[in-house]
Amino acid sequence: MAGQKKLLRALAGETLDTPPIWMMRQAGRYLPEYKATRAQAGDFLSLCYNPELATEVTLQPIRRYGFDAAILFADILLVPQALGADLWFVTGEGPRLSTITTPAELEQLKPVSDIHETLSPIYETVRNLAGALPAETTLIGFAGAPWTVATYMIAGRGTKDQGPAHQLIAEDRATFEALLDKITEATISYLSMQIQAGAEVVKIFDSWAGSLKGSDFTKYALEPTKRIIAALKAEHPDTPVIAFPREAGDNYIGFAKATGADCVALDNSVSADWAAENVQVDGCVQGNLAPHHMVTGGQELVDETKRIVKAFSKGPHIFNLGHGITPDADPDNVQRMIDVVRGA
Ligand code: CP3
Repeated sequence: MAGQKKLLRALAGETLDTPPIWMMRQAGRYLPEYKATRAQAGDFLSLCYNPELATEVTLQPIRRYGFDAAILFADILLVPQALGADLWFVTGEGPRLSTITTPAELEQLKPVSDIHETLSPIYETVRNLAGALPAETTLIGFAGAPWTVATYMIAGRGTKDQGPAHQLIAEDRATFEALLDKITEATISYLSMQIQAGAEVVKIFDSWAGSLKGSDFTKYALEPTKRIIAALKAEHPDTPVIAFPREAGDNYIGFAKATGADCVALDNSVSADWAAENVQVDGCVQGNLAPHHMVTGGQELVDETKRIVKAFSKGPHIFNLGHGITPDADPDNVQRMIDVVRGA
């Protein structure tokens, strides 16, 4: 029965003896089998849009480690591309996009109803995975949160401080808000299609939420997430949503209640003890081992993993890293972490 999967039980608010575990970027360059399939696809975007190979890389960490969840292999920047932005990846540097900073550029984007033409291979990957995963493994779909996606669309690349997006807020708030609205609508439609295709949980990645302060955090991180969740719940009331307002700090407090999220994912800048007291009181939390332990390993990895499991042991918890695993991680350290979490 679907309700018996460990990840879904934690998301329903159950406190389990050992938490379910998965890892952000679990299909990635630290795995030799990922690198081989990526080479076969040619480049990262071709891999995202190839349902057969995207299914394969999603399954690789499940085969190797038996994680409790598989996350769809795709990227948050496929939505801007589906809206008509140019997107490419520069090796060793990261994403590049055509920029949207004026009403005229915003006007040139496609209508939200057109995104599925580009994104249909992603739904096919979800359908493949729904049929291919072991019975105990939960399938997670995802999208970027509107603010984080907007920061890339405005700057045309990743930035340290999201300066160009903050500048647009300061100089032309109306255009910024119109862009945010458009991304929000596209995200609702995209996630809804993933759920229809077989995603059992969806996660909203707001990687740059931490750079929004005060009322801007409420308006541009909290409100769009709340709107997406309300729209999804209206159509799919039984599909849990994980929200990840990364580096939100004190804004993690009350975030689940305010947005309707079933779980809040925590980055590793907050302590597990603090989060247990202030965030887990409202329901399930996910996190939050620092990703560098997958590189450095050793006794510290063991101790930190145990500490986090213990800190969150009195409530619903999904074990994860505080951010994505990095390409220089050692696959053996991942196994070590899993063994510690599962008490093996
Ligand atoms: O977690 C998973 O395994 C699922 C797949 C996934 C990817 N990206 C694959 C990917 C998910 C959930 C994402 C989310 C994503 N993408 C975020 C939010 C989460 C976060 O990390 O903060 C962001 C900001 C992006 C945008 C993005 N994609 C950047 C900035 C980069 C370049 C940096 C890098 O790691 O190379 C990517 C590329 C990317 N997305 C890779 C993968 C596996 C590496 C591509 C490669 O194989 O070269």
